[in-house]
Amino acid sequence: MIQSAKGTYDILPSDISKWHYLEAIIREVCELYNYQEIRTPIFESTGLFERGVGESTDIVTKEMYTFLDKGNRSITLRPEGTAGVVRSYVEHKMYAEANQLTKLYYIGPMFRYERMQKGRSRQFYQFGVEALGANNPMLDAEVIALSVNIFKRLGLKEVKVLINTLGDTESRLNYRKALINHLKPFQDSLCTDCKKRLEINPLRVLDCKVDKNHQAIKTAPEMKAYLNAESQQFFDNVLKCLDDSGIEYVLDNNLVRGLDYYNHTVYEIISNVEGFGAQTALGGGGRYNGLVQVIGGPDIPGVGFAFGMDRLILALEAENITIPESDNVDVYLVTMSDKTNQFAMKILDILRKNQIKCDKDYFDRKVKAQFKQADKVKAKYVIIIGEEEMKQNKVSIKNMKNEVQETIEVKELVKELTERLEVYYESNS
Ligand code: HAM
Repeated sequence: MIQSAKGTYDILPSDISKWHYLEAIIREVCELYNYQEIRTPIFESTGLFERGVGESTDIVTKEMYTFLDKGNRSITLRPEGTAGVVRSYVEHKMYAEANQLTKLYYIGPMFRYERMQKGRSRQFYQFGVEALGANNPMLDAEVIALSVNIFKRLGLKEVKVLINTLGDTESRLNYRKALINHLKPFQDSLCTDCKKRLEINPLRVLDCKVDKNHQAIKTAPEMKAYLNAESQQFFDNVLKCLDDSGIEYVLDNNLVRGLDYYNHTVYEIISNVEGFGAQTALGGGGRYNGLVQVIGGPDIPGVGFAFGMDRLILALEAENITIPESDNVDVYLVTMSDKTNQFAMKILDILRKNQIKCDKDYFDRKVKAQFKQADKVKAKYVIIIGEEEMKQNKVSIKNMKNEVQETIEVKELVKELTERLEVYYESNS
C-alpha cells in the first residue's frame, strides 16, 4: 500500500470542522483589521528564498524542497509565505499609489524538510499577515494585537507573547561585532551548528536549543546595550502601544528568530499548556524593513507574522476547547420502495435548489437502515416517500427530535422545511 509521504498527513473529514472553524475566525478577524487575502503560488524560483529568507538560515541551507523542473529551472516549494507575498507586492507594483498601506493575509501549505515531531511536519499550514508601506510602531503593535485577538477568539488562554528588538541595521551591525568578539573564545565548546553560525549569523547562537545553557550564551552582551537612540525609541513606542491596548508581553533578550529579514521588532507567541510537546512556538513575526528592496522593489518597510495552523489545532486540543460541530445534513430522504427513488431524486433537487442540505440512500437499504443512516448524519427531518403518497404528490415529514410525523403536499415542502429549520437553528444557536 502506498502511504502518505513522510512528514505529511491527511486532514480527514472527521477533523475538518476544526480547520473550518479556525479559518473562519482568521478571516473574520483579518477583515476587522482591514487585511485582504492574497494567494501566491506554492512554488517559486529558488533564488527568491535564497535572497529573501537568507542564505545562512537553516531554512535555506537544510530545509528546502528544491528541484529542477523540466525546463532546468531551479524551483522550491515555499518554506514560508513572506518572500512570496513580497515578490507579488513588487511584481504587481502594489506600492504605486503614494502613501499607501497594503495589508495582506494568507492561508496555505508550506514545506520544510525537517525532523518529524509532534507539531512539526514537512507539509504544514500557515496563516500569516504582511503590512507593507509604513515604518510606524503602531503597525507593529496592530499586527501583534491582531494575532492576540485571534487567540482570544479561539478561546486559547495558555499563551505568552515574547518580544524583542533587533534594532535598525546600524544597531544590529554593532551588536553583531560585539557578539562575535564575545563568542569567539567559546567557539570550540559550542555545538556544531553554532560553530558555523558564529561567523555567518552569530545572533542565531542566542536561541540555539542545544547550547541554551552554555556559559557563552548566559554571559552574552544584550542587544539593548547596542541600540541607537532611534531604534530604542521605536521599540519603546511599540511597547507603549501594546500597554495602551492591554496586551501582555514578556521581554526576551535572546529572541532573534530564524529568518534573516528581520530588524526592529521581533516576537513569538508560545503555548504554555502542559503536555503541548517540544514545539511550543505557535507563531512569530516581526518587522522587515529592507526586504522589499532585497526582492527588487523600492525601499518600503514591512511587518508581519505567521502562525502554524497545525500547532493552533494542537493547542485547541491541549486546552480542551470544544469546537462547534458543523451540522452536516438537515433533511434525509427515506424511500419505501424502488419505485419511489426517481421521485426522491426530484425532491432532493428541489430542496437543494432552495438551499436545504439534504441526502438520501444509494445502497437500496431497508427502511430501518435508512432511518439509522438519517440518525448517523444527524438529520433534523426525515422525508418519507411511499408509493401511495407519491401518486397524490404528497410526502410524510418526520421531526427526528420529537418524532412527530405528518403528511404534506410536495408544493408546501420547501416553505414548511425552511420555516421549521429556521426555528430549529434559532433554538440551537
Ligand atoms: P517561522 O517562525 O519560520 O516564521 O514560522 C511561523 C510558524 O510556522 C512557527 O511559529 C510554527 O508555528 C509554524 N511552523 C514552522 N515550521 C513548521 C513545521 N515544520 N511544522 C509545523 N509548523 C511549523 C515565518 O515563517 C515567517 N514568514 C513569519 C513572518 C511573516 N514574519 C513576518 N511575516
